[in-house]
Amino acid sequence: MTTRKLAVVVLAAGLGTRMRSSMPKVLHAVAGKAMVNHVLDAVAELSPDRVAVVIGPGMTQVEAAAAPHTTVVQEERLGTGHAVMAARPALGDLADDPDADVLVVCGDTPLITPAALHSLREARDERHGLAVLGFQAAEPGSYGRLIRDDGGDVARIVEAKDATTEELAVDICNAGMLCVGAPLLFRLLERVGNDNAKGEYYLTDVVGLARTGGEHCALRLAAESEVQGINTRAELAQAEAAMQTRLRTRHMRNGVTLVAPETVFFCHDTAIAPDVIVHPHVVFGPGVSVGEGAEIKSFSHLEGATLSAGAVVGPYARLRPGAMVGEGARVGNFVEIKNASLGRGAKANHLSYLGDTEVGEEANIGAGTITCNYDGFGKHRTTIGAGAFIGSNTALVAPVRIGAGAIVGAGSTVTQDVPDDAIAVARGQQSNRDGAAKRFREMRNAEKAARKTTSAKG
Ligand code: UD1
Ligand code: CA
Repeated sequence: MTTRKLAVVVLAAGLGTRMRSSMPKVLHAVAGKAMVNHVLDAVAELSPDRVAVVIGPGMTQVEAAAAPHTTVVQEERLGTGHAVMAARPALGDLADDPDADVLVVCGDTPLITPAALHSLREARDERHGLAVLGFQAAEPGSYGRLIRDDGGDVARIVEAKDATTEELAVDICNAGMLCVGAPLLFRLLERVGNDNAKGEYYLTDVVGLARTGGEHCALRLAAESEVQGINTRAELAQAEAAMQTRLRTRHMRNGVTLVAPETVFFCHDTAIAPDVIVHPHVVFGPGVSVGEGAEIKSFSHLEGATLSAGAVVGPYARLRPGAMVGEGARVGNFVEIKNASLGRGAKANHLSYLGDTEVGEEANIGAGTITCNYDGFGKHRTTIGAGAFIGSNTALVAPVRIGAGAIVGAGSTVTQDVPDDAIAVARGQQSNRDGAAKRFREMRNAEKAARKTTSAKG
């Protein structure tokens, strides 16, 4: 374990033009979390002494996403080397501290793991003034190539646009992350020029310059799935797929059954207890937590929902923010729940909308029950007491309270409170006229026959 101090610079000032987006690239989400926050969370695991995020002018949303970390504005995007230079003032004393390292990471590599960063940090040792993270690329494409010496150290990095055909054939690529003794890094950066294909100040040039000065650069390899850089929407989709694989593996390792893992989509913050069963084709949005032994059936969509132990949800359930499904409660097909709680053992099994509602324990919500919670201006609450029974196709016009143990007749439109244990029926009175249907048909048939005879004569 190194005892050296650590400053981290996160590069996030790039425009991300290849994304073709009005939003800065690093704010695009992977598993529901902005790329830059994935990177910052991985960095946090190293307990750095200082973190500085380099952003472009006017990138206030990136600044907000990076908070509470310091952000520095790189006024002109003149390259990755220039960007690290811009961060120097934010590092304070650490920039000149011989006992400090600077770890530079890119904001567009959301799959980076704390383990890979840790290994890079450890690679910068007594023999190596610098260390870079590399990977064997399936398609080296536009990545910088790592040119090694006979001892396996990195002699220099050549950017794809500046590489010779021979250099382009190298498939060990630069992941865009390096760790350098702080004073050495800034000494080297002062000597980096922009005489290259892009006319930019490349951070990657520090490796060759260091070598000329007699320094050695260590190489640590990571899996491509950890260091892939995101520059296009297609790469964003690849990163999402890789992150989903990682999340599925993690949940299964924690004791969750995924019947068809490749069809279940998690959010970075999904919390699932052991012995939960998730059936095929379920989507978790942000803020979902699921208690032990719960079951989520196919084609359900959950966000901001809390399921207690043994709850059963779906198939085709939609749980929106503020949905709380109590212990052993059931939510069935085509039921939408928003800002509403179902008490222990309560059931809403078919075709319902429950919004801004509290449902007591063991209550039964019949098929087609709708809480009319919105009057076009404000939201209103519905309270349904424990053990109440709401008949099918009932409209509950909020604000309204159904007492404990009360029964509401099917097809009711309830506009007034119902006392505990009362029966409420609020629908048109039924009247039966004996034989009327038969008389009606006979009359209409006679009329039809009469019309036919007249037209035949004419
Ligand atoms: C960079 C590396 C390349 C590596 C690849 C890995 C350089 C010169 N090249 O290339 O060797 O294989 O990453 O993904 O470093 N940024 C700024 N300010 C700038 C320019 C960029 O903050 O002026 C930021 C970007 O927001 C991004 C990161 O630096 O987060 C990398 O920039 P990008 O333009 O994506 O570099 P690549 O061409 O991918
Ligand atoms: Ca990149």
